[in-house]
Amino acid sequence: MVKATQLGAWQQLQKHYDTICKSLVMKDMFAQDKERFERFHRTFKGEHTDASILFDFSKNRINDETFKLLLNLAKEADVEGMRDKMFSGEHINFTEDRAVLHVALRNVSNEPIMDNGKDVMPEVNEVLAQMKQCADSIRDGSWKGYTGKRITDVVNIGIGGSDLGPVMVTEALKPYAQEGLNVHFVSNIDGTHLAEVLKAINPETSLFIIASKTFTTQETITNAESAKAWFLESAKDKAHVAKHFVALSTNADAVSKFGIDTKNMFKFWDWVGGRYSLWSAIGLSIAIYIGFDNFHQLLTGAHEMDKHFRTAPLDQNIPVILGVLGIWYNNFFGAETEAILPYDQYMHRFPAYFQQGDMESNGKYVTRTGERVDYSTGPIIWGEPGTNGQHAFYQLIHQGTKIVPCDFLAPIETFNPIGKHHDILLSNFFAQTEALMRGKDEQQVRAELQNDKSVKLDQIDRIVPHKIFLGNRPTNSIMFQKLTPATLGALIAMYEHKIFTQGVIWNINSFDQWGVELGKQLAKAILPELGKDGKTIDSHDASTNGLINYYKQNKKQ
Ligand code: F6P
Repeated sequence: MVKATQLGAWQQLQKHYDTICKSLVMKDMFAQDKERFERFHRTFKGEHTDASILFDFSKNRINDETFKLLLNLAKEADVEGMRDKMFSGEHINFTEDRAVLHVALRNVSNEPIMDNGKDVMPEVNEVLAQMKQCADSIRDGSWKGYTGKRITDVVNIGIGGSDLGPVMVTEALKPYAQEGLNVHFVSNIDGTHLAEVLKAINPETSLFIIASKTFTTQETITNAESAKAWFLESAKDKAHVAKHFVALSTNADAVSKFGIDTKNMFKFWDWVGGRYSLWSAIGLSIAIYIGFDNFHQLLTGAHEMDKHFRTAPLDQNIPVILGVLGIWYNNFFGAETEAILPYDQYMHRFPAYFQQGDMESNGKYVTRTGERVDYSTGPIIWGEPGTNGQHAFYQLIHQGTKIVPCDFLAPIETFNPIGKHHDILLSNFFAQTEALMRGKDEQQVRAELQNDKSVKLDQIDRIVPHKIFLGNRPTNSIMFQKLTPATLGALIAMYEHKIFTQGVIWNINSFDQWGVELGKQLAKAILPELGKDGKTIDSHDASTNGLINYYKQNKKQ
């Protein structure tokens, strides 16, 4: 596979952009074409679940030709071929020589999925059964702590993919939680994170889940050791650890070394990437919190989206369409970021989750064949729930100098129908994409100011430019019936496959993350230099030496 810019479809898109981009004015295209919404929206319905999604991409700077060329790009880059390789267990993560099979974790169809000639499904199902047993026994109170009390607090200690997924999903599916059962998350090595959680729990009724694929991550192991020490201050006897600590990992040796019996270990496999692991044993805190049946629904919704991604033709394929639209703005309009804006408070960690999902996957400048790319790859992902974002950063999206393609997400039904709240929320959801698309021209602004008796006539000229909205700012609208486990599963899988599609087109390996290693290495070298030994450090550059020495001189503890 060549560099993306060498593809015929890419070059055609460039020509198309150069010749017609200025005339792609959404407001005019809507005025000229009453069918635009009809042609540029797609729907997704779960076959066996309540997942139901409407994806409207009509408010984009595209016409039929653009859409066709974008799909040609996906075709020519062989997104379909690579997708089939992923599902059939080829080692597409070639820098680590691994298959990429998170899709197997939610393969509720149970059709065989092979890794190195072996069907992975029997082991996947075994671990799911083990997770069910654990979740059930905690929820029904039969899992007892060392003083015979039931577990009331579950603390997941993990970081990155071993934290963000469970945090996001347990927040999103809070309405499914069991009363009296709380989940907490400790990820940061900053002792404050652990300390604040420990303040809120009782060792007799707490279960610590140590979640780490490698079981070597410094933050997680340090937090886990401190949590164990805190627990043993009360429990005294090490034998009690078994009732209060379980591990989620691929590394059985490190788990036993830590002091957790491997009977209390929930395993997964090297073909599960950290940022794709919430579907694996890493989802144990989710299964405990919302119940195994709901966890299974989450998997099923994702599986249904997998099926859609595998089988829908490109022009119907929601993740593919999302992916190529992102490329259109990223690579042809020079957009550097993408905003994810959920109009659902329960989804408040969804953008943060996909910061890792997207940026750790596609933040790469080397192609699969080892050359430097000469085009931009993964965007910066950011976002906050609406309407909070509206009162914070939407100013820039509406009137700033940068183009920020946005995904707006909203449920039709709320879990909390209080008065008119939901209609007000949704009126904002609809209004924002309309405003971003339509803008407001000088004529309108003048007319409004002239009608406003509080504005003096001689002030109008001065104010007009500030009140003009250029509009033509692209958005996708993603509506779903209700944030049920299956719907959430489908939404997450939809974005995963969008990221996949883009990685294939950019010809990068979306499944390794070497970029996180250098900082880790240097931190390991610096740690021993921080002791209270009075030694001045001079082994780094002047800035780093200066900072370390300033810290050493002033630290009191
Ligand atoms: O930050 C790098 C990373 O490897 C992520 O990809 C991963 O999700 C996280 O660290 C945690 O890793 P582990 O589960 O092995 O502790």
